[in-house]
Amino acid sequence: MSTKKKIIVTGGAGYIGSHTIIGLMTSEETEVISIDNYSNSSEKTYDRIEEITGKKPRYYNCDLCDEKNLRAIFNTEKNIDGIIHFAAFKSVPESVADPLLYYRNNILSLYNLLSVCRDENISCFIFSSSCSVYGNISKLPVNEETPLSKPESPYASTKIMGEQMMNDFSASMKGMSSVALRYFNPVGAHPTGLNGELPRNRPNNLFPVITQTAIGKLKEMTVFGNDYPTRDGTCIRDYVHVCDIAQAHVFAMNYLLNGKQTKPFDVMNLGTGDGVTVMEAIDAFEKATGIRPNVQMGARRAGDVVAIYSDCAKAKSLLGWNAATDLNEMVSSSWKWEQHLKKEI
Ligand code: WQD
Repeated sequence: MSTKKKIIVTGGAGYIGSHTIIGLMTSEETEVISIDNYSNSSEKTYDRIEEITGKKPRYYNCDLCDEKNLRAIFNTEKNIDGIIHFAAFKSVPESVADPLLYYRNNILSLYNLLSVCRDENISCFIFSSSCSVYGNISKLPVNEETPLSKPESPYASTKIMGEQMMNDFSASMKGMSSVALRYFNPVGAHPTGLNGELPRNRPNNLFPVITQTAIGKLKEMTVFGNDYPTRDGTCIRDYVHVCDIAQAHVFAMNYLLNGKQTKPFDVMNLGTGDGVTVMEAIDAFEKATGIRPNVQMGARRAGDVVAIYSDCAKAKSLLGWNAATDLNEMVSSSWKWEQHLKKEI
């Protein structure tokens, strides 16, 4: 009787998904299957996973909104022990511009996946949530008991709805053990420089914009607002290294599989607890690389919250997890990855 655990990772070709697969595959006790439709990633990511770990997950090209295709995969892949659900659209500005795209994709995909969980009796489920569920909070840092404020973007609303769906579904299912991991701002790249964020089109997120501007892919970058009520007028975020986020998923899946969770559904913050402004991130990049990207000051961006950073005591106490990677390594690993991408072209 195999003691191997079989884990499905949706969005496994994506940024956080691929780093989590790398983390899962270091254990011989885990068989990983990835489902991704490459809407914001590339099948080539599986080659990068193999370059780093020496093996590839089994993988399927499937849009989770296509229930028929999704169910066909679960008819092939039986005896699944757990699911880690990353696949979702995640750009704040894009969700403001096209809310229906986000509601359909992020909600219908979760609906289909939970329907399969019910029918296939899969009881361990990790949901990729986000600090954006908190909205604009004046009392920082936020912990999991902090009441949620008004969501500032449709993206944030889809994560709030997703958590509600997880809560209600888990309460209705006997033996369900699920957790929503609220990431703050995942950044950085694998220390080998062989895997990292690979935005399909022009990036929206700060770190890939910094590195693409520094390497010359972008002529300049805009700081969206320097008139906020913060120490230097720019927004504050809790940047956390993607490998730390990946490790939290490995810890959380083991926590669920070993029956350590005492309730059907729970939420946990994943961050460092440190707030960093946009300008401080740019300064850290320059300090680490000696390169100052061409920065222009611009107007505020719709959907941005002024400041948010985390209290992660709960993940530390329940999972024994804490983010160990500092800002210097976040910017340095991002830059190493951008330079690797340039060599690949
Ligand atoms: C950070 C700051 C921008 C680009 C992200 C993810 C979301 C979720 C939460 C979960 C903001 C500023 C950015 C640029 C800038 N993560 N900025 N110029 O909006 O906090 O959301 O983290 O998985 O999925 O999108 O991250 O990197 O877009 O912005 O000034 O060109 O950098 O205004 O203040 P955000 P971000």
